[in-house]
Amino acid sequence: MTTPEIAPLHDDLTFHGPLSGERAGRLIHSLHLPDGARVLDAGCGWAEFLLRALEANPSATGTGVDLDAAAIAHGQANADARGLSSRVTLQVGDVAQFRPESPFDAVVVNGASQVWGGDPLQHTANALTAVRDLLSPGGKLMLGEGFWEREPTAEQLAAMPIPRNQYSSLADLVDLAHTHGYRLLAVEQAGLDEWDVFENGHALAWERWLRANPDSPHAEEVRARADTHRAYRLRGWRGTLGLAYLTLQAP
Ligand SMILES: C[S@@+](CC[C@H](N)C(=O)[O-])C[C@H]1O[C@@H](n2cnc3c(N)ncnc32)[C@H](O)[C@@H]1O
Repeated sequence: MTTPEIAPLHDDLTFHGPLSGERAGRLIHSLHLPDGARVLDAGCGWAEFLLRALEANPSATGTGVDLDAAAIAHGQANADARGLSSRVTLQVGDVAQFRPESPFDAVVVNGASQVWGGDPLQHTANALTAVRDLLSPGGKLMLGEGFWEREPTAEQLAAMPIPRNQYSSLADLVDLAHTHGYRLLAVEQAGLDEWDVFENGHALAWERWLRANPDSPHAEEVRARADTHRAYRLRGWRGTLGLAYLTLQAP
């Protein structure tokens, strides 16, 4: 039985993560992009953050790379509609295989440190290492990365598919960036409202589909997916897993 088509996340979400427009604007400002800046968004999804960075910096150009062809197509349609096509290249591809001709002034890795693969416990360190090679000296990294806002209980860990040691405290996350040669310029974290907007949008398409297709042979599978995700959220990470936004400067 093939999986049914569920409406894409971008139907219900502006960003593919717990991020408000206001915070996105502040994070973009924190990068202080130079004139003519070249920006890479690694694992860009539909690239809303990158498009906003280009709108805020009219001489900047951007590249976004993601494996998800539908997300890239949606980002491209948005870029076209907002008059940004001449300044942005969105490509379907594996970031781990991406070899640019020249380095970038800024790299965005937002909820996407996994794009370089490897052991999940090493994703953050791998991303910090890989990005250093993509940046010009003194270039900026906007890293949106998980951390534990509070120590997860044994019950929470049992209820979600995230090993305790995949993330650390916020202070240890920042220290890890420093051990990779970066300096912290700014730090923020997603608020509970941003998480709730994100999670509510995440679940909506499944609920709409179930309402519209009550007799589908896929209904049980889709309901199970929605229920599993709701349990991860409400018994697992809500209020415990944080998302930090670090603005970092490379050596
Ligand atoms: C949580 S989403 C974040 C998307 C985007 N950064 C944002 O904030 O809206 C993670 C993204 O990483 C992409 N991805 C995962 N592995 C990848 C890889 N090896 N190369 C490129 N993209 C990848 C997924 O397709 C997905 O769009």
